[in-house]
Amino acid sequence: MAVIGIMSALHEELAAVLADMPDEQRVVVAGRDFWVGHWQGHAVVAVLSRIGKVAAATTATVMLERFGVDALVFTGVAGGLGSGVRVGDVVVADGFVQHDMDASPLFPRHEVPLYGRALFEVDAVLSLQLAKAAQQVLQAAEQHLGPDTLAQFQLSSPKVHQGLIVSGDRFVATSSESQALREALPAALAVEMEGAAVAQVCWDYGVPFAAVRTISDRADDTAHTDFNRFICEVASRYSRAILLQWLRERAPI
Ligand code: ADE
Repeated sequence: MAVIGIMSALHEELAAVLADMPDEQRVVVAGRDFWVGHWQGHAVVAVLSRIGKVAAATTATVMLERFGVDALVFTGVAGGLGSGVRVGDVVVADGFVQHDMDASPLFPRHEVPLYGRALFEVDAVLSLQLAKAAQQVLQAAEQHLGPDTLAQFQLSSPKVHQGLIVSGDRFVATSSESQALREALPAALAVEMEGAAVAQVCWDYGVPFAAVRTISDRADDTAHTDFNRFICEVASRYSRAILLQWLRERAPI
């Protein structure tokens, strides 16, 4: 049976996944807890990604080397950069760039040396499946989150976007930095701290990769009212529901 790897950026997201896995066994590798079991009839390995590109790359490498996963899916939160990408929306990546990679003048800005590319694309089929699942979940957002949560976070008609996500080892929390990112990488819809690293590892191993990020903030000075509550009450509920919907529609192979 194909083994699906699930990397969650947040403790709360991982807890929601584990609550649905009836038989998970903990295996510790490189100081990380990998949870091996089943979800919706699929063989699954779930793990916390850890934060930042190096930590996430290590976690992904162990997933591929030790657990031989056949596909890897990442869920977490991100800061919105694209116009119209609002808090409570979901972005499904179609590719990743490391926004803080710069080996110029030896290589063009953003290009990963010796790869001849800045952009690491994701698996198109997997991403389409996840975008469809996200669409279904967001259409029923009130059912998944409840009317009070929708009102508290002022979420109205949340949308699914597909496009470029950029990653770097920095939490972007000023308007000047998010503006600089928009200028350097105008196609970027969202910014986070792990995806491009995991995409590069999956590229190296030829393993299909996809990523789903809930927008938790606009990567600017308007700090979110309550980041932790948003993660518990919105982001982790969305990611559990999206993964569940996706696994239900995907026949175990
Ligand atoms: N993850 C969530 N929001 C983020 C931000 N503003 N910058 C980097 N990573 C994030």
